[in-house]
Amino acid sequence: MSGSDSPLTLLGGLSAAEFLRDHWQREPLLIRGAFPDFQCPLDPDELAGLACEEGIEARIVEERGRDGPWQVSHGPFDERTFAKLPERDWTLLVQAVDHYVPEVAELLDHFSFLPRWRLDDIMISYAPPGGSVGPHVDQYDVFLLQGSGRRRWQLGGKVPDDAPILAGIDLRILERFDVEPGHDWVLEPGDMLYLPPGWAHHGVSQSDDCLTLSVGFRAPSADEAITSFADYLGEQLPASQRYADPGMTPPVDPAELDDAAVARMRRLILDTLDDPAQLAQWFGRVMTQPKYVDQLVAAETPTEIADLVAELQAGAELLRSPGSRFAWRALDVDRATLFADGDGLDCSLELARALASDAPLDAELLDIPGAAEVLATLLDAGSLAWDDEEE
Ligand code: SIN
Ligand code: CO
Repeated sequence: MSGSDSPLTLLGGLSAAEFLRDHWQREPLLIRGAFPDFQCPLDPDELAGLACEEGIEARIVEERGRDGPWQVSHGPFDERTFAKLPERDWTLLVQAVDHYVPEVAELLDHFSFLPRWRLDDIMISYAPPGGSVGPHVDQYDVFLLQGSGRRRWQLGGKVPDDAPILAGIDLRILERFDVEPGHDWVLEPGDMLYLPPGWAHHGVSQSDDCLTLSVGFRAPSADEAITSFADYLGEQLPASQRYADPGMTPPVDPAELDDAAVARMRRLILDTLDDPAQLAQWFGRVMTQPKYVDQLVAAETPTEIADLVAELQAGAELLRSPGSRFAWRALDVDRATLFADGDGLDCSLELARALASDAPLDAELLDIPGAAEVLATLLDAGSLAWDDEEE
């Protein structure tokens, strides 16, 4: 494996360490030929096919829709939808294509210089000439990889949270978009543009085969984090842990909420929240929650450990379910919590690392104490599945 200081073609010759220091979350980076001779793993028709499937999140944005400007329609679509679209100025966007197309999921191997639990998904868009979703801002780090055709990208710099947006439409399009000098490029297949959160951008298709892959990385907002951590902790707190004021002095005015009362409440909240072990447990769970909870199909009957061991020993393999998320955190030198799809399992550090990696899940794993039980739990939860081809 190459170290974090070897130059990467994917990052335009920067090392992972240099990219993380100078660009990640800070500055955009245009990388010509990030994927040399890139062959897009799917074509516009295949993308449209996915957008017609039940359960796949897809949108069409029409700049001049029948119901008004920047009209957004939600899938699943059918062939008639596509037949009725104009020749230009629309976009089809399909989320989480990495869940459905293994060759798209394989692209993620190139992004192992980033924590895997930061990944949101790979969205793919198709647009005929002129198609765009308008100038906007995302709260995501995103690598915009040109799959086929050409797209012109213009960047408008960092914009404040309260930058005015167009009223009366279902998209958050900036009212004002000024291109930063020198931030205007046409991307060809294999070229990639990294964008930090908060940067205004506008991408317009320049060809009739324009496919753009957005490898998006998410970060919970303070609002989501505080609400979710408070909910997690709240489930474990005893009813007796509450605001308390023993030994208080008589109030000057019984109607006043005085400084001492506010300080007591502040202490209760801060002391309760300031629990690094609980915070890590919550963090692992929240960052591995699946993007689409209903894609996780739990087993109808619990797996018998003896059957699972026999299958593996007979040569069967288990696979991580597409879209399942794994991470781990050490508890001590040889124990860890394995986080899988929003749950936490206590197991050996060796097992947690193996399961959260890309390593094959076969009989060799059974050498690790406790492996069969954890595999059965993950199989029953739907995070793992038998590889049908191997059975
Ligand atoms: C697109 O692919 O058309 C839009 C991607 C983005 O701007 O985030
Ligand atoms: Co965007």
